[in-house]
Amino acid sequence: MKKVKKRKLKKTPKIILILLLCILSIGIINSIGNKETEKKKLTKEEKNIQELKKISYYKKEYKNRYLKYQEKNPKLTTEEIVTNVNIGIDKPYYTNTKEATNKNTNLVLVNKYNYLTENDVPNNLEELDTTYARSGMHLVKEAKEAFEELSKNAKEEDLNIIAMSSYRSYEYQVTLYNNYVESDGKEAADTYSARPGYSEHQTGLAVDVYNLDVPYTSFEETKEYEWMQENAYKYGFILRFPKDKVNLTGYQYESWHYRYVGVKVATYIHKNNLTLEEYIAKKVED
Ligand code: DAL
Ligand code: ZN
Repeated sequence: MKKVKKRKLKKTPKIILILLLCILSIGIINSIGNKETEKKKLTKEEKNIQELKKISYYKKEYKNRYLKYQEKNPKLTTEEIVTNVNIGIDKPYYTNTKEATNKNTNLVLVNKYNYLTENDVPNNLEELDTTYARSGMHLVKEAKEAFEELSKNAKEEDLNIIAMSSYRSYEYQVTLYNNYVESDGKEAADTYSARPGYSEHQTGLAVDVYNLDVPYTSFEETKEYEWMQENAYKYGFILRFPKDKVNLTGYQYESWHYRYVGVKVATYIHKNNLTLEEYIAKKVED
């Protein structure tokens, strides 16, 4: 009897020991598993960075922004990720804004992230000949001469491409924007009008055109628009807010708004179907 009892007593701790060992092993296996997943996650992030770095205009200071934006937009290519973050569109419009650089050059970028100050007035503003513009229109000298040449050559084909809005001062944009907000509300106004300081009309390099016959908002339906599609870049102008790039420019399609950037850049932008934002974001810094 005594022997049997002894055996029973010995068996019980063995079972507990086995159970404990099992629990311990499961724990260890789990923790190894977790570490492996963490390792895999890290490796995936590292792999993403390696791919992003292959893009020639990758900026190391934006590494975390690229990764975050990529996580939110997994369908975009690495090229698109780097371009869009360089533009700044991983942040909401009118946040993370900075004063525009390259002022008084043909490549100044003014948009919902880059602004001009109240005091910024471009150098060399000149009034456009009223053969090519409504009275009182100004552009910077180089843009003015290019626009007049464009309008003159279009006229030779019986087409009227007339400037109806060009340089606008900061104060003028205040009035314009406030009027739009009053009639349509801020949210709607922001889709088609720049806030004061954020309009490239203040650079003296932007021009809105019409054909004398139909309102400028119907410019898309005119022969003049077709001519502009084919020829504007030859004079250094680009269609600034294209239909298929609303998310990049932050503005509704404007068939009437053209921006002077010079013939070389306009040709490149036209042939590669880019916006000014993309062109600048993809530019390899010297
Ligand atoms: N309509 C353009 C976006 C401007 O207000 O400058
Ligand atoms: Zn305009």
